[in-house]
Amino acid sequence: MRFLVTAGPTREHIDPVRFLSNPSTGKMGFAVARAAAKAGHEVVLVSGPVALDAPRGVRRVDVVSARDMLAAVLDELPKADVLVMTAAVADWRPARTAAKKLKKSEMKPVIELVRNPDILRTVRKSLGASRAEKVIVGFAAETGEPTAEAARTCREKGLDLVVANDVTAKGAGFGTDTNVASFVSPDGSVERLPLMSKDALAARIVKRAVLWYTCRNTNSGT
Ligand code: CTP
Repeated sequence: MRFLVTAGPTREHIDPVRFLSNPSTGKMGFAVARAAAKAGHEVVLVSGPVALDAPRGVRRVDVVSARDMLAAVLDELPKADVLVMTAAVADWRPARTAAKKLKKSEMKPVIELVRNPDILRTVRKSLGASRAEKVIVGFAAETGEPTAEAARTCREKGLDLVVANDVTAKGAGFGTDTNVASFVSPDGSVERLPLMSKDALAARIVKRAVLWYTCRNTNSGT
């Protein structure tokens, strides 16, 4: 099967030396890409700026902004069977990006922002009827009990699964090697997983996606 995985943060530049971003290190997405490749799948990894090497056997596409990531995902999507969106995409970007470094004296203390496109919603629209042939997994990083929000995200974005986690929980969150997550399905059912390494969680996500894909495509073929 062919996996398309996104990872890391996006950077939304104010000028060439300043940007808005978040603390994502890409570890979860790189772990998913590694697990999928290890399981023998073809993997494309679309990554924002991170300090990690691409896992062996994975084709990496580097991007900077949310709009770059959207373009790369739409480009790779037709060939993918599974999309796993672990990326922490910035929801907002500066309304204007200066081509040259701004002098302090030229800057105002307030930056006007505009909304970035939502990649998962755009993917859903662009796929139309062919959406049913793919498995789409999203992530929900919350600061607090994550599952109610995740169920909403799952329904609103038309996902097959949301991996929800409280980024403030012990052993979870940005930069850690472990995670405490729950699998949330569109019907709101929740499977709570224990603390485990991001590699172990990634292997579970890959297994679950393969199962979904196989069930769906077996059923639709009969
Ligand atoms: N995502 C996306 N495009 C964006 C922002 C997020 O595709 N512009 C994806 C993320 O990669 C993740 C999922 O959407 O898989 C997270 O959904 P999101 O709406 O960001 O969830 P919350 O953070 O819970 O939303 P809110 O800020 O409304 O609480």
